[in-house]
Amino acid sequence: MSDNKATLTVGGDTQDYAIMDGTVGPQVIDVRKLYANTGMFTYDPGFTSTASCDSGLTYIDGDEGVLLHRGYPIGQLAEQSSFMEVSYLLLNGELPSAKELDEFTRTITRHTMIHEQLTTFYRGFRRDAHPMAIMCGVVGALSAFYHDSTDINDPEQRRIASHRLIAKMPTIAAMAYKYSVGQPFVYPRNDLSYTANFLRMTFSVPAEEYEVDPVVVDAMDKIFILHADHEQNASTSTVRLAGSSGANPFACIAAGIACLWGPAHGGANEAALNMLREIGTVDRIPEYIARAKNKDDPFRLMGFGHRVYKNYDPRATVMQKTAKDVLEKLGVDDPIFDVAKELEQIALNDPYFIEKKLYPNVDFYSGVILSAIGFPTEMFTVLFALARTVGWVAQWNEMISDPAQKIGRPRQLYTGPTQRDYVPVDKR
Ligand code: ACO
Repeated sequence: MSDNKATLTVGGDTQDYAIMDGTVGPQVIDVRKLYANTGMFTYDPGFTSTASCDSGLTYIDGDEGVLLHRGYPIGQLAEQSSFMEVSYLLLNGELPSAKELDEFTRTITRHTMIHEQLTTFYRGFRRDAHPMAIMCGVVGALSAFYHDSTDINDPEQRRIASHRLIAKMPTIAAMAYKYSVGQPFVYPRNDLSYTANFLRMTFSVPAEEYEVDPVVVDAMDKIFILHADHEQNASTSTVRLAGSSGANPFACIAAGIACLWGPAHGGANEAALNMLREIGTVDRIPEYIARAKNKDDPFRLMGFGHRVYKNYDPRATVMQKTAKDVLEKLGVDDPIFDVAKELEQIALNDPYFIEKKLYPNVDFYSGVILSAIGFPTEMFTVLFALARTVGWVAQWNEMISDPAQKIGRPRQLYTGPTQRDYVPVDKR
């Protein structure tokens, strides 16, 4: 707590509000007593100035383009760590020892199978269902299958549910893909890494052996790391809000998946690639830049801009390099990558984008990589959900473990009609 106070004068009455310090980053004004003191709420649609919780997981400095998980810079984690290690870090607060990492990896590996009866859920969906629709349904349904890990007040059950979610998500995601292409589901294999296992469940068919390419595994693992957590974004806040009522973890993560689906959030990588394909060639870029700048045109450059980053998204830096490596190593000559690089250069030098501090975000290049690996665009957000699950469960656990946790209940500025009397239908 800082010694400084914020002083607020309302209707001639002055009150002090404590200013709280984090370890780094902006201070916050503690307004919890504001309503009791003044009878007024704060008004902040979109939560642009509101800290909804305190958290020790992830720190972002949007002006400097910094992203830290438990203090470690995302660039270092993406280059030197693995998704399993980052998952352990997010869940437990510290990097694991070799033994701890081994045990954690083994635990996750042993939870990758899903209840066989869950496979029947898939068959209830239309073949052309968006895989995110399937994800919402199947992940929500997990709570109907794993009753023994839904008591949120038991830390051990929370731990098991967290492991189950992280472990089963690749299986569920791969099955959503298999169902959409009419191929048989592929069961997990315990001798493969988390990421290699996912790629095999997605791309192998019983008719021939599937060779897991280490270049692809490495790229995919990086993509998972880059999406693992991102502070109190919309889907994470959704998970926290759902969890604040005491809902079980599977239901909370299903809520997070639903929120992630939107094109302003997780759906942006799908939208970014579709946009790059629509642009198609470098000579058409100016037309799209002009559209993005036109106030009367709702078009936006997808994969550009971010609520928090007003600088280059540090994840986009890693993503651009990974895209280059993957395309080179797979020998894919996709003109979309040239369009993306050129579009980035033009936008970064355009006064409109400079003034509004619009930089490429994590989604700008991820679609190029995922497409080169062989994923259809509808799967992009599913991959994001898979990777973000660890962030969601870590944030959910942090919230539930906090003894001061309360149900999330925002208030409003009411602008509807004042009280009036009901008029029977024959009198209206
Ligand atoms: N293209 C063109 N103009 C843009 C873009 C864009 N991508 N993004 C923002 N702007 C403009 C807005 O029109 C607005 O202009 P104005 O001040 O003249 O009205 C200004 O920049 C500020 O934009 P807001 O929408 O107010 O900023 P906000 O923080 O609410 O939105 C968002 C952030 C939703 C990410 C936005 O930049 C956007 O829609 N980007 C495209 C979608 C996208 O890539 N989303 C992925 C986010 S990252 C993630 O979820 C992992």
